Amino acid sequence: MVVRGGRPLSGRVEISGAKNATLPAIVASLLVDAPLVIAHAPRLRDVETQVSLVESLGKRVHWEGSTIHISGEAVAAEAPVEIVSRMRASFLCLGPLLVRLGEAHVPLPGGCVIGTRPVDLHLEGLRKLGAEVEVREGVVHARGKLHGGQVWLRYPSVGATEQLLLAGAAIAEGVEIVNPAREPEVMDLLRLLSSMGAEISFSEDRIVIRGGELRGTEHQVIPDRIEAGTYLLAGAITEGEVTVSGVRPVHLTALTAKLEESGAEITSNEEIVRLRGTKPWSGVEVETAPYPGFPTDLQPQLTAYLALAQGRSVIWERVFESRFGHVGELLRMGARITLQGQAILIEGVEELRGAEVRATDIRAGAALVLAGLAAQGETRIRGLDHLRRGYENMEAKLAQLGAEVWVEETSVI
Ligand code: UD1
Repeated sequence: MVVRGGRPLSGRVEISGAKNATLPAIVASLLVDAPLVIAHAPRLRDVETQVSLVESLGKRVHWEGSTIHISGEAVAAEAPVEIVSRMRASFLCLGPLLVRLGEAHVPLPGGCVIGTRPVDLHLEGLRKLGAEVEVREGVVHARGKLHGGQVWLRYPSVGATEQLLLAGAAIAEGVEIVNPAREPEVMDLLRLLSSMGAEISFSEDRIVIRGGELRGTEHQVIPDRIEAGTYLLAGAITEGEVTVSGVRPVHLTALTAKLEESGAEITSNEEIVRLRGTKPWSGVEVETAPYPGFPTDLQPQLTAYLALAQGRSVIWERVFESRFGHVGELLRMGARITLQGQAILIEGVEELRGAEVRATDIRAGAALVLAGLAAQGETRIRGLDHLRRGYENMEAKLAQLGAEVWVEETSVI
């Protein structure tokens, strides 16, 4: 992707459905033979990957605009390694296959290179519910009839919480998850499973899910708070005026609070957030954390913004241990950032310069796009595949806001 920087972005952009809510919803289809309809789904590489996963397990899928229709029976208990190695969220099929078929064989997952990302919490949780789990030659083999029980998560992992909810939706005695993740995408999965017939109650520190007679349903996915946050930051870094529409402002509070602290003007109502960027903006201190804390998925994009702040900023990355793939690339554009263990220290600079850079994961790629929008001259971002995994129509949406951005297909030999 090539970005010619220096133009303030202005206008309104409609936010797509949340990738991270769509991925577990597709896997939830494995719990029933009846049709499941998922509306407001983003058409992204990761979503296509999850669709191929359920197809490979026996489901039939077709798209109608941004709606995914899934029907048919899951017949295979083995997830193909070429799919699971592409994306971590495909590992979520383990629980549903196990409760449906009594066994599941799922390779250890791949995904973005942002840390070691083990699945121990998923496996410990399923063992606690009666699964026999073995890992042999990179494949997780799980067997057994699951029973109810209590699972305490020592860390509120999004994936492990979703894994246990998906299994729990088919366990009549009920599963209690203590210290679950509370991300909006997890809440969206709860809403889906409840409309499929599971009984759910939750309080501050636990979720109880009791399986019932599950049925098909129609589900509308929540808006993508990370996509929305990325466009707000695009407005801020270019000193523009950007409105994101079709969003839940409350899901964006951690970001908008930091943007306001740095000097941007934010207004919001029910479904929109409007940002007006002004220069100079000041540096801030941020720590990523599970929801409602500052999302790790916006940390790279925030880093790009703070690279141009007046003064010093500090970001502590507390969720993933090595999510700094964007830092080296931002340095090549003139940023002054030093890495200190789990933290980065950012000394704001007056300007960034276009450069040839590489996206190492989805959000690192987004950070480079933002830096490119504000930089002098042209920024060429390789690794477009990463952006395609997580941002729907990114070039078109940016162009609509007045950015000069285009894609050059290059063949890699
Ligand atoms: C999900 C999101 C991802 C986001 C992350 C944190 C999807 C598809 N992806 O990823 O975009 O960045 O939440 O908000 O929804 N961990 C363990 N053992 C486990 C599971 C996780 O130690 O069994 C650790 C991970 O290594 C990581 C931390 O827990 O350090 C957070 O991971 P988790 O919340 O599980 O994230 P994902 O579900 O992988």
